[in-house]
Formats: sequence, C-alpha cells, structure tokens
Amino acid sequence: MDFVRFNELMQDIDTILGIEGTKGELMQDICDYLKGRVPHYDWVGFYLVNPENDRELFLGPYAGLPTDHKVIPFGKGICGQAAEREQTFVVDDVTKETNYLACSPKVRSEIVIPLFKNGRVLGELDIDSDKPGAFTEKDQEFLKEIAGKIEAIL
Ligand code: SME
Repeated sequence: MDFVRFNELMQDIDTILGIEGTKGELMQDICDYLKGRVPHYDWVGFYLVNPENDRELFLGPYAGLPTDHKVIPFGKGICGQAAEREQTFVVDDVTKETNYLACSPKVRSEIVIPLFKNGRVLGELDIDSDKPGAFTEKDQEFLKEIAGKIEAIL
C-alpha cells in the first residue's frame, strides 16, 4: 500500500486534538485530516451508539461521499458486526462479504475500529478504501492509537 509516515501523522493528530473545540469539531477535523493525508483512505467517519438505543449506531462526523447508511443496527454490515463483536474488523475484499452495506460501489476494502468507554462500545471509526486489501498491520496500529485518543475525549 502507499508509503505513509504514520509517526509524522500522529504528531499532527495530537496537535489537532490539542486545539480547542467541541468533540464533534475535533472528530470532524480528524476525519478531514486522515482522508486528506492518507491516499488509500477514501472515506473516513465515525458512527456513534444511539444514547436512546444501545443496539443502534448513527452516523457522526465524516469525510467523503455522503452515505445512505445513517443508522445501522448492531449486527448489520461491517459496522454493525464490529460493534456487536466489540472487535476491530478488517475486510480485504468487500465484494466477498454477504453482510455488507455499500457506501459507494467503488469501495473495495474497509476497516472498523470500535471505541470503548467504561468497557462498553460507544462508537467506532470506519474507513473505506477504493483499493483492495488497503489496511495493513501498520494501518491497524496507527488507527487503534488514534481510537484510544478519541476515546479519551468522548
Ligand atoms: N460499509 C459499512 C457501512 C458504512 S459506509 O461504508 C459509510 C458497513 O458495511 O457496515
């Protein structure tokens, strides 16, 4: 995949998170930054657990094409499955997945990282790529570290 200096990007992430702003603004800035700086991140967004229904996710800040999937029940699609399993879910080829919700027909691979607070899933970071198998161990490591920083502000 594209050569990305994740260490340098992490410094910028820390800078962004150090800027004064609402949680929503900071999450939006992270989405915009990641989509703009990592060539194989074509859609970057957050889904959050509905405070009125803890089996449902709703779309939070995102960068990329608008998606029809503004509400996703636990168990549905890659996002809903990651929330239910409480585990990172990497899909190298979305065309092979039967339980998948397409955001755009160009998407080929996806990673979803759950965000936790007090041991419970309260949202997730979802990234789509138009390239197959886009998400390496390095991406996972990088994105899990960012997820930890987001958890700390939520
Ligand atoms: N592909 C996701 C849906 C979210 S969109 O990609 C933005 C899924 O299967 O859950």
